[in-house]
Amino acid sequence: MSIPPMYGPAFDADPYPAYDWLRRNAPVTRIPLPGCEAWLVTRYEDAVTALTHPSLAKDPERGSPEWRAASLGLPLDHRPSLARHMINADQPDHPRLRRLVSAAFTPRRIAGLRERAQELTDGLLAAMAGKDEVDLIADLAYPLPIAIICDLLGVPEADRATFHRHASVIDSAAASEVEEIGKATDALELFLADLVASKRTHPGDDLLTELVRRPDITPDELTSTAFLLLIAGHETTVALIGNGMLALLRHPEQLAAVRADPESLPDVIDEMLRYDGPVRNATWRFPTEPVTIGGQEMLPGEPILVALLAANRDPAVFPDPDAFTPGRIGEPHLAFGRGPHYCIGAALAKIEGEAAIGSLLRRFPDLTLATPPEELTWWPSAIMRGLFTLPVRLNETAKETAKETAKETGLGPGSGSP
Ligand code: HEM
Repeated sequence: MSIPPMYGPAFDADPYPAYDWLRRNAPVTRIPLPGCEAWLVTRYEDAVTALTHPSLAKDPERGSPEWRAASLGLPLDHRPSLARHMINADQPDHPRLRRLVSAAFTPRRIAGLRERAQELTDGLLAAMAGKDEVDLIADLAYPLPIAIICDLLGVPEADRATFHRHASVIDSAAASEVEEIGKATDALELFLADLVASKRTHPGDDLLTELVRRPDITPDELTSTAFLLLIAGHETTVALIGNGMLALLRHPEQLAAVRADPESLPDVIDEMLRYDGPVRNATWRFPTEPVTIGGQEMLPGEPILVALLAANRDPAVFPDPDAFTPGRIGEPHLAFGRGPHYCIGAALAKIEGEAAIGSLLRRFPDLTLATPPEELTWWPSAIMRGLFTLPVRLNETAKETAKETAKETGLGPGSGSP
């Protein structure tokens, strides 16, 4: 038996049969990547062990020479001005960098972001009204998180389109598009250096200004943290809204249930994250000493990927894992990771998801898919899982016609008809 293909449009469209095969037959296994091999961990229990293991480091300096030469980091080339951020850091730098950002996520700022997410969503939905068909990715899922993360960091309006262009190449392009990703990274590096410099001369009421004022963060750490927040806080939320809405539209009974009981929305979003989450694999980890997980010994420096999508469909933890069942009880999913690097933006991502998805369902209750799901195309990324487009029909006319008919015939809600 050999490992099923882990790349290409068929895998991107539906990676779950391959993950199922791996969980059963090779739960911790070596997979080939451009330029090196990596360990892939697919079972839930092993995934938790790897995500929380004290001897698995995150610092790219700990990666083997083959891994370092293969250019697979965040950013790919490990340049210090963008790579010295918390996801690439271990003790003692990791808690210091993480605390600086958590401290800036004040309750006041989070409350402000909730209001802002709602206001932005209302504007985006108003712009959709009256159209037959819209693309939920371009018209809602992209503009909302980009505006929120840019607000948070204090990126001027005029620069947002440029930033979005570079960030989306870095996040969702295929790993093989090295030249294109390199150009986008160069552009983003210059952009962030200018942004940080401008915060020193023109401070604002934003997170970056707060970080710039701190004495305990180096210039490289500052630009790297801005880079991480821009990248991590952007396409992930796009994919939550896109993958999540696709799952819901493919399950009409669940769609009807959440419409009837809007209070269940947080459970629905949680199941969206488990069922088809935005992050395919957690970021790189490297043993600092020989470590055995799932019966396999991993040697110092060998790169490890934890397949979050595979772990979140592990039948040992999630009964009937391929069913979309909001309100599950039991172990939490791993869509936001686990352990010291657990997503720092999880609360913000949920706020954005609730604003976008809740308002969409309220404003356009007759929404349907406009393209058969098998014709949708997925990002070829090794890290992320998300859709290029999600065309939907708003069906406002159908609703209006039904209302008109009900008025004319006297048959409608409250008319006593069955
Ligand atoms: C649905 C949306 C999101 C998902 C699914 C997601 C997922 C993740 C995952 C899986 C990790 C852990 C990676 C690992 O251990 O290798 C992570 C870490 C992180 N995320 Fe998110 N994320 C989302 C949204 C956000 C947002 C909105 C922000 C920023 C505002 C953000 C910022 C971060 C940061 C800074 C880390 C690194 C934490 C650390 O190293 O201590 N994420 N995220």
